[in-house]
Amino acid sequence: MPADVVTMEKVVSLCKRRGFVFPSSEIYGGLGSSYDYGHYGVLLKNHVKEQWWRAMLRERDDIVALDSAIIQHPETWVASGHLAGFTDPLVDCRACKLRFRADQLEEGHCGRKPSQPPGSTDACELTEARDFNLMFQTTIGPVKDEGATVYLRPETAQGIFLNFKNYLQFSRKKPPFGIAQVGKSFRNEITTGNFVFRMREFEQMEMEYFVAPDQAPHWFEHWLAQRMNWYTRLGIRPDHLRLRAHEPEELSHYSSATSDIEYRFPPPATPAREAGGGRWSELEGIANRGDFDLKSHTERSGQKLEYVDTASGERYVPYVIEPAAGADRAALAFLVDAYDEDEIGGERRTVLRLHPLLAPVKVAVLPLVRKDGQPKLAHEVHHALRERLAAEYDEGGAIGRRYRRQDEIGTPWAVTIDHESLENRTVTVRDRDSLAQQRIAIDELGDELERRLREPWRSPKLSG
Ligand code: GAP
Repeated sequence: MPADVVTMEKVVSLCKRRGFVFPSSEIYGGLGSSYDYGHYGVLLKNHVKEQWWRAMLRERDDIVALDSAIIQHPETWVASGHLAGFTDPLVDCRACKLRFRADQLEEGHCGRKPSQPPGSTDACELTEARDFNLMFQTTIGPVKDEGATVYLRPETAQGIFLNFKNYLQFSRKKPPFGIAQVGKSFRNEITTGNFVFRMREFEQMEMEYFVAPDQAPHWFEHWLAQRMNWYTRLGIRPDHLRLRAHEPEELSHYSSATSDIEYRFPPPATPAREAGGGRWSELEGIANRGDFDLKSHTERSGQKLEYVDTASGERYVPYVIEPAAGADRAALAFLVDAYDEDEIGGERRTVLRLHPLLAPVKVAVLPLVRKDGQPKLAHEVHHALRERLAAEYDEGGAIGRRYRRQDEIGTPWAVTIDHESLENRTVTVRDRDSLAQQRIAIDELGDELERRLREPWRSPKLSG
């Protein structure tokens, strides 16, 4: 198989050029680790979240949905352990006035010599490491006193534990069952410069699965397999994905077992690429949180958070298995994995070989020329198709350039209306990956594209 052409620089540049992601507040010089999603980025990330919901809700009947508040009672973070322990070790450099994560110095850039990590020059003056809490603080109400201090949630999970009792009452669920939530979380990250991989404001897709304590190891394995399968089903190449179990000293305070799903991102430098290297980074953590959270909230709130079987009288505090994924990291991994370049008729092409279900636009409708009644028929086709799947109309520029534009945003199919279309109401459908062109009757187009969208899909970047 030829070497992968993708680099992070190429993906970042495509994201800006084609309106997926922009650095936030750019006209004011940007804001560290904040990004804005542009049109195609919004569509892509929506599809990632949609597929997550689909796997959690539509394909099973033991999980229910929640959308809890971002600002919760401050006791939440005392009980969860975040107020005391959600910290990273921070060092200051007295020379360049920058701050770095003490355990990730190799990822930082010295303020005076940005090509070098902090601490590597004689001029660097790093302080001792101290604990830095990653939660953003704000106040509620008009009076700024101690009682008004609240935090932007650093994970969506706690909103689920706070609602555990409500869900037992209304949902008629009993363990094993799960509560799923997608939403923004906030962390005052120290290490910056990792594009959307590490932001201060990001979206999580988390599910807390409540089980009988003796069943926890079984469900932990179940969710490891389910979640790995989700990424590969949506097109991530299996050899770019791995499961890594945490070492005991790495485990969070609440966890008795955690495994990360990691993606092999492209290496930054050429020698590493040639050596077949890459950087394995976390997309998702799957943890056995035991009964830590429910017990802790019971203690602080005085409300019993337990399951009682009304038939047998059995009562217990469920254990929790948590698959915690990041929507931004998943979208980035799908983008990186899809990025490809090839040559058509001697011309270089950039193409995103995204799974059709994730592609921002499913079909482009293109009149071959802007005359002879072709735009009118193309509009008619576009209007009929957009009722059924995300369709985009484009009549600007040479047809080759329009195909290229759609390839760059990963549109799997392009429908071209030509002179024959006006004679016999057929169109050609061009496939983004195989470049095959097939003539199809306009009346059958919607059914055919929906059929293709439902088909199992395999990345063309896989050999064999
Ligand atoms: N409730 C458990 C929890 O929050 P985590 O490993 O800290 O676990 C889960 O976060 C996922 O959230 C990560 O695997 C990652 O995908 C995403 N995530 C965490 N911090 C992030 C950040 N600063 N920027 C983007 N995504 C982040």
